[in-house]
Amino acid sequence: MVLLDYINAEQTIKKILLAQPALTTFQKIVDVLYDSFEKYSWVGIYFVKGNELVLGPWKGKQATDHTTILLGTGICGAAAKTGKMELVDDVSKDRRYLSCFLSTRSEIVVPIKKMKVVVGEIDIDSDRPAAFNKNDAMFLEKVADMLSQHI
Ligand code: SME
Repeated sequence: MVLLDYINAEQTIKKILLAQPALTTFQKIVDVLYDSFEKYSWVGIYFVKGNELVLGPWKGKQATDHTTILLGTGICGAAAKTGKMELVDDVSKDRRYLSCFLSTRSEIVVPIKKMKVVVGEIDIDSDRPAAFNKNDAMFLEKVADMLSQHI
């Protein structure tokens, strides 16, 4: 993965956010993430509503059954509860993992915070083992920061 891919995707996201702050914006950001990185096999944004996460826009080959997830449940619920990023290199070795797709090997979940409170998260599954590195983590934290200004 070349650095330019991250820079290009970041710039495209900035442009979209400046142009049209609305819910369709989030779908466009999800599309950019999915389309920019082949290793991002499924990309979704969950929003915190009460004590659960509710799936918003997503892009991938298949829909997930996990359209709502209780806070504290699964990798998504863990990240939402603690406010800390979850990066799982091998989902088969993580007991918390809620399976959505048989092809998934690794997963990253990045909380979206407003005034330090988790309001949503970016969830990305990859069909490749250990697909996510420091660059992905830093890039997606930046994206989460940008998105938080639009929730
Ligand atoms: N694997 C997640 C559930 C969401 S799906 O990946 C879309 C989890 O363990 O919380």
